[in-house]
Amino acid sequence: MKILVTGGTGYIGSHTIVDLIQHGFEVVSVDNFHNSRPGALEGIEAITGVKVKNYELDLADAAAARKLFESEQLTGAIHFAAYKLVGESVQKPLEYYRNNLNSLMNVLEGLQRQGSSNLVFSSSCSVYGNADALPVTEKTPRKEAESPYARTKQMGEDIITDFCRANPYFQSVILRYFNPAGAHESTLLGEDPSDSPSNLVPVITAVAAGKRASMTVFGTDYPTRDGSCVRDYIHVMDLAHAHTLALKYLLKDKATKNPELFNLGIGEGLTVLEAIRAFEEVSGVKLNYQLGPRRPGDVVAVYADRTRAALELGWEPRRGVEEIMQSAWAWEQKLGESGK
Ligand code: WQD
Repeated sequence: MKILVTGGTGYIGSHTIVDLIQHGFEVVSVDNFHNSRPGALEGIEAITGVKVKNYELDLADAAAARKLFESEQLTGAIHFAAYKLVGESVQKPLEYYRNNLNSLMNVLEGLQRQGSSNLVFSSSCSVYGNADALPVTEKTPRKEAESPYARTKQMGEDIITDFCRANPYFQSVILRYFNPAGAHESTLLGEDPSDSPSNLVPVITAVAAGKRASMTVFGTDYPTRDGSCVRDYIHVMDLAHAHTLALKYLLKDKATKNPELFNLGIGEGLTVLEAIRAFEEVSGVKLNYQLGPRRPGDVVAVYADRTRAALELGWEPRRGVEEIMQSAWAWEQKLGESGK
């Protein structure tokens, strides 16, 4: 069974391809390397022994996307390809809407045209905004998005819902990620964005590696345990395996709702200061950070109720914050050895 992974050389896409291959799927990737590097394909091959074909094209380009879907007969697709930087989306909303929504619509059309009917969509806990109650379940109402990035995820979910309603044969699973972090235990794969990282864990490891002089904790006056924001950090390999399970779930026609929705978080909240302390304990490196003002667009706290994914997908995260910090630090040191 051949699966198209869009954004296949990206952080979560590349780790998911490893898990798909290790569970017997044939994979083809499409990625224009906007926020990734071709080296991820070498990492995938080093881990799995499989040389994955990547189409280097822009999925937001309808003609290019059409050509791709005419070239590969697919059982389904996992759609990661999107711009994902919260702060950048506030500065460049049209780029985010044009890229993230056109890519999704071109993927839906491409699958429809060749009669494939299984799509796993990469969504985000940011669709919940500042939820009234925690942990959030899949029934928690989505609130006003805090950024254009989050709004493209809300709109993406709505586009898929309407498409499934118009094409009942077409099945989809929407996965709402919490905060992905960490790297493959082999250190052959990890987060390797083309621009400097803005997410917490890669910023922590960059400071620890001396690539950045220091970092700022964005806000310590929130109504939380220690005043800093709370997030649900999930190891990227646990997240990757959830995609394999979601695909199997679709292929077994087990979906009762269309689309099905699943939260993917470990169900525990960690504050920013607790995450920093966890890293220091695991790495033995004292981090240089200062306390600063809040970052616009941040929600105070969000973490998952992951009951549905456990019951329906049989998904259980197996790694905690220690493995996240250990694998992220090992990957950062590996990047350093290769001069990055
Ligand atoms: C986490 C916490 C920051 C950097 C976003 C998207 C989400 C997902 C992950 C794609 C916040 C604090 C961070 C720093 C800090 N995107 N922080 N200093 O914003 O929770 O989630 O990225 O998969 O969909 O919404 O992640 O890692 O940027 O921030 O204090 O230098 O760390 O304020 O509280 P976020 P993040």
